[in-house]
Amino acid sequence: MKVTVVGAGNVGATCADVLAHREIANEIVLLDIKEGVAEGKALDIWQTAPINLYDSRTVGSTNDYSKTADSDVVVITSGLPRKPGMSRDDLIATNAGIVKTVTENVVKYSPNAIIIVVSNPLDVMTYCAYLNAKIDSKRVFGMAGVLDTARYRAFLATELNVSPKDIQAVLMGGHGDTMVPLPRYTTVAGIPVTEMIGEEKLNEIIERTKFGGGEIVKLLGTSAWYAPGAAAAQMVEAIVRDQKRIFPVCAWLDGEYGMKDIYLGVPVVLGKNGIEKIIELDLNDAEKALLEESAVAVKSVMAVLDNMNAANA
Ligand code: LAC
Repeated sequence: MKVTVVGAGNVGATCADVLAHREIANEIVLLDIKEGVAEGKALDIWQTAPINLYDSRTVGSTNDYSKTADSDVVVITSGLPRKPGMSRDDLIATNAGIVKTVTENVVKYSPNAIIIVVSNPLDVMTYCAYLNAKIDSKRVFGMAGVLDTARYRAFLATELNVSPKDIQAVLMGGHGDTMVPLPRYTTVAGIPVTEMIGEEKLNEIIERTKFGGGEIVKLLGTSAWYAPGAAAAQMVEAIVRDQKRIFPVCAWLDGEYGMKDIYLGVPVVLGKNGIEKIIELDLNDAEKALLEESAVAVKSVMAVLDNMNAANA
């Protein structure tokens, strides 16, 4: 199996490191536009192989997509973070341009690849990759729910002082303040979470989860990378090992949850064909309202991209 990670920043390099260390692919290509950065980080990762005892090969490439040819899975992490004074639209314009170029190159050399988008703003950059890849939406989707759910589960594990392994949860919606953690679908070793924690504390954890990315930006002055990189790698693993794992993924909806023409976080089955099934939960009215609110927020940012594309057409 060959996996390419585009963007050798913190998230991309971490993802490549996890893929190599856990032998999720035997060949990993890390590509970046900055001269030498991908080669340097790939070489550094490869030099951990004799220490960590694995044989996955990691190689780097400065913008030479021929090295990525025939990848089975491609993870796109490219894009700039938001800087002071930049509007959301500025970020969309810059990153949409980057994601468009990257996607076109990816598809040119790996027409059969499954594409996982990690670039922000996540839901809209996934849409952007889909528009430019011109492949089945089951093969273009975004990483957000695995990360957001991991944050939610980690906070619960700390609060309850239990193993994070025993916390299972579903979280839906966009990768932003309107994301929808679902307490009704959260269990601790099969026990409904509401039997383990008071409502007030649970609501605090839900609020903290929604702003989980921002909490780290505030601490570090830049966005997170360990959990985002590991989350993307876990999705790659589900695909290359055809695990049929159920993860919340930013997926193209075509009537599911009564929604169409939108990329939104929903639970799916991930396997060798990409999204093999979208799972439709029987949401109650309150949950539906929260999901719809999140969809409205995502749609408004998708519209910015559509308007930009229309102006450039
Ligand atoms: C976060 C960024 C990676 O949530 O989107 O940390």
